[in-house]
Amino acid sequence: MRTLEWDKNTNTIKMIDQRLLPGQFQVVSIDNYQSVAEAIKTMVVRGAPAIGAAGAFGMALAALHIKVKDKEAFLSELQQADTILRKSRPTAVNLSWALNRMMAKAKKVIGNTDEITQILIDEAQRIADEDVEINRKMALNGASLIEDGDTIIHHCNTGSLATVDWGTALGVIRMAHELGKHIHVLVDETRPRLQGSRLTAWELEQYHIPYEIISDGAAGFFLRTGQANKVFFGADRVAANGDVANKVGSYMLALAGYDNGIPVYSVFPSSTVDLSLQNGDEIPIEERNQDEVLGIQFNGEMVAPRQAMARNPAFDVTPGRLFSGLVTEKGIIYPPFHINLPEIIKRDSK
Ligand code: MRU
Repeated sequence: MRTLEWDKNTNTIKMIDQRLLPGQFQVVSIDNYQSVAEAIKTMVVRGAPAIGAAGAFGMALAALHIKVKDKEAFLSELQQADTILRKSRPTAVNLSWALNRMMAKAKKVIGNTDEITQILIDEAQRIADEDVEINRKMALNGASLIEDGDTIIHHCNTGSLATVDWGTALGVIRMAHELGKHIHVLVDETRPRLQGSRLTAWELEQYHIPYEIISDGAAGFFLRTGQANKVFFGADRVAANGDVANKVGSYMLALAGYDNGIPVYSVFPSSTVDLSLQNGDEIPIEERNQDEVLGIQFNGEMVAPRQAMARNPAFDVTPGRLFSGLVTEKGIIYPPFHINLPEIIKRDSK
C-alpha cells in the first residue's frame, strides 16, 4: 500500500504507523482531522511530502464533519482545522503548501457545502497522486547523477515512507538500481529517532539494494578515506538561495562531503521550496522533546544521568554553497542557486 491512502468506503485515512517499523507493520485508520494533526506531531506519518498529503486529507476529513450548511460558517470552521493542522509540525513547508492549496480550492468553489466537501476529497487525492508522479520524475532526473559502482551516503529516510510513494533521495537511488546500476548505500542511522536504521534500511531490504548502516558520526571517516563517493539527502524546506533545511545531521554530512571534494545532492519536489524566504536563517526549526535524545538505552539502561537535560533540534540548515546540485521534478539545478533555483521553480511544469 501507499504510505497513506484515502479509503472511500469508510471516509477515513489509512496510514502506515511508522513508529513501529521495522518490527511491526500496522495500519491505522483515522476519521477526524484532530487525530491527523496528532499523527503528524507524533510521527505516525513523517517526511515532508507525506506530511503535506496527510494535511490535505485532514482538511477533507474536517470538511466531511462540518455540520453547518451556510458557506461562510463552513469556511470559517474549515479555517480552524487548517490552523490546527498547520501547527502540528513547523519545518516542512509541504504541509502549509498543501493546506494553502486546499483552502484556496474551498474558497473558489461555486456550490453548496456538500459540493465543496467532495471537491476537497478529490483535491487531496490529486495532491497524493501528483506526489507519486513528481517523485518518479525526480528519480529519473537524479538517477543520471549516479554511476555504476557508486557508494552513496544517505541521511534520514527519504523513501516511499517519507512521501506518498516512491520517495525523493531514496527514490533516486532506487531508480538508479532499477536501471541496472550497481550501488552500495551507507545508511546514516539518523539519531535520535533512527529513521535511517529503522526505515531506510527496511526499504532498501525490499528493493534488494545492498547497504550497511553507519553511525552518523562515521560519515566523515568514509568520505575522507574514499570509501564513499556521493552524498544524497532530501529536504524539508528550501530557501530561495538554495539553503536546505533537512533532518539534523545533514549539515555536518554536507560539510564533510564538500571538504573532501565529494558531490552532495539534495532531492526535493518544488512544493518543498519556499521562495518567500531569502535564506535558510529564516526557516523555522522544530525543536522536539528532549526525551527523544535522553531515552536512548545501552545494556538495558538509560545512557544519560537521571538529571541530564538535552537539546533536540529536529532539522538543520545546509548552506547552498555546499551542494553540487539540487534535484527537482523540473530538472537538476546547478549553482548559482540564488539565480537558477527561483527561475526553474517558477517555470510552468506543463
Ligand atoms: O522528522 P522527519 O522524519 O519527518 O524528517 C524527515 C526528513 O528530514 C526527510 O529527509 C525530509 O522530509 C525529506 S525527504 C522526503
